[in-house]
Amino acid sequence: MTQDELKQAVAKAAVDYIHPMLEEDTIIGVGTGSTANLFIDELAKHKGLFDGTVASSEASAERLKSHGIPVYDLNSVDNIRVYVDGADESNDHLHLIKGGGAALTREKIVAACSEEFVCIADESKLVKVLGDFPLPVEIIPMARGHVARELVKLGGDPVYREGVVTDNGNHILDVYNLEILDAIALEKSIDGIVGVVTNGLFAKRPANVLLLGTQSGVKTIK
Ligand code: A5P
Repeated sequence: MTQDELKQAVAKAAVDYIHPMLEEDTIIGVGTGSTANLFIDELAKHKGLFDGTVASSEASAERLKSHGIPVYDLNSVDNIRVYVDGADESNDHLHLIKGGGAALTREKIVAACSEEFVCIADESKLVKVLGDFPLPVEIIPMARGHVARELVKLGGDPVYREGVVTDNGNHILDVYNLEILDAIALEKSIDGIVGVVTNGLFAKRPANVLLLGTQSGVKTIK
């Protein structure tokens, strides 16, 4: 199977996984990226079985609306039953690197507000040690130089993602050459740098389940 076919398989598996949760008042959190897009397209086949969604980006909100799926403002909902999103890397603890699509801040917010986080990914995303994928860090634009210098002190090589402005009006530094052996500690350290909005480590709040698309079928890792 190609990588796209593996992504399609996990998108379908995610809808099967959440199907028992779908009731008339169920709100679903929806992530961002190519795998999340395939999930949105699968979810659309079941619209009417649940109330609506909260989206982690403007792009996902547009795609959901194009299918006629309601999209709510996060502040107008009481409870998100489940959040479904892709990842750039996952380790065995379901600690993730996210933000390749620059949506990390809203993704982390929606994940934090959700009862359960289902990560969907093809097998190329599962790694022993996080950090081959450069870690995205969303920053307040005026703090770029300061944050970059602090990230160097933590052992990384930050690179400004030119031309990218997040949905929140901020910028992204991609941090190369980190060998992330303690993801929770690094997530906290980077959060402590003045000028950082969010970093792309999802370790304090990891995924609850990883649906991993492999050549021998979709594996469920908890
Ligand atoms: C978006 O900001 C990211 O966190 C995505 O979830 C991540 O980049 C995975 O994207 P793909 O599903 O396109 O690989």
